[in-house]
Amino acid sequence: MTKEEKKALSLNAYREYMQDCYSAEAPGRIEFLGNHIDYNGGKVLGAAINGVVCALAKPRKDLTIRLFSESFENDVVETSLNDLSFRKGSEFWANYPLGVLWSLKEATLAPPSGFELILTTDLPLAAGLSSSAAVELATALALLQLNGNELGKSDLARLCRRAENQFVGLPCGILDQGVSAHGEKDHLVLIDCEKENFSTLPLPKDTCLWIFDTGIKHDLVDSLYATRHSECKQALELLKKKEPDLTCLAAASEGLLTSANLPEPLSKRALHVVKEKTRVDRAIELLKDDASRKEIGELLFASHDSSREQFENSCPELDFLVDDLRKCPSVLGARLTGGGFGGAVLAWTHHAFSQTDAKATATAFRKTFGKHPKVHRFEASRGARITTTLGEAGPPSL
Ligand code: GLA
Repeated sequence: MTKEEKKALSLNAYREYMQDCYSAEAPGRIEFLGNHIDYNGGKVLGAAINGVVCALAKPRKDLTIRLFSESFENDVVETSLNDLSFRKGSEFWANYPLGVLWSLKEATLAPPSGFELILTTDLPLAAGLSSSAAVELATALALLQLNGNELGKSDLARLCRRAENQFVGLPCGILDQGVSAHGEKDHLVLIDCEKENFSTLPLPKDTCLWIFDTGIKHDLVDSLYATRHSECKQALELLKKKEPDLTCLAAASEGLLTSANLPEPLSKRALHVVKEKTRVDRAIELLKDDASRKEIGELLFASHDSSREQFENSCPELDFLVDDLRKCPSVLGARLTGGGFGGAVLAWTHHAFSQTDAKATATAFRKTFGKHPKVHRFEASRGARITTTLGEAGPPSL
């Protein structure tokens, strides 16, 4: 067989295999401002990024489900449509797609039969960029197609959050899924978490989003995230004794916090939430005026200081990065992004911030902590979407 014939044969085999495959992709996200505000009812700002999880689903005739992703764990997890049991150990990653399937079932949107699901990603994992939400949204969009179902962006985000809250067991808010669903090129996603309203605002021109990943793996499920969630809940319950109409912690006034005299650490946690809410509200105002980036940047730094001192979800590595970046004139603002307790720092910069500047911070970090942080520059990008498997280009690299 000639080289040309071989190529044609594999192209045909590829096309045949892909004929009934459905694909989708969903981006990771950067939390721009609003740390641990989503489950406390305030507003948050985030950006979907140009790092995505891709999901490829192929229906089966039986009830078997086979999940594969070399990006997460290089192994196949096999189960059946009727057995959505929780996975442990090296199969833990499968809880995200399985959780989505569970959520689809609850909403009577599950596929009618089994399927193969392949997940791939170019998103840095465990870096506070919410690869888990990206897995959830890409999976949901791919599986919905197996039954010809559709969901709007907001419902998609809610369905995936339910998977994470009720199946995976993390009491996260709507930030990650909401931003991944509603992302738009060159825009920030604004979520009013109490009303669950989603909108977008342009990211100020000539600014860039850099991520400095400490490489400290924070397993959100096992971490202090749930503790912070419960501390905020306790603080709200105590405040409600003084102000029964209070609907969420972010709606409390500083005056109420002072008069309620909450015990530690609840008073610190509540102070963070109340002041962070004010910072986001101010940033939203300022974002309407392209000239205010310096002031917006200051809000990012103040957010980090509050995470460090009041919410206590920072760590020496994240603090080091923020302090070092603060010295660079083209850095507008920097703060930990995401759950905290490790993960990454966002540096929001003027476009003059260069690889050389980034390298200077990375080198200073290595001198102190013995290893380089991973540095990435991202664009604010579009949100989750259905993709076509048989693009004009055919198979990726035959
Ligand atoms: C994680 C959670 C989000 C949000 C952030 C902190 O990313 O998944 O819901 O709470 O932490 O703001």
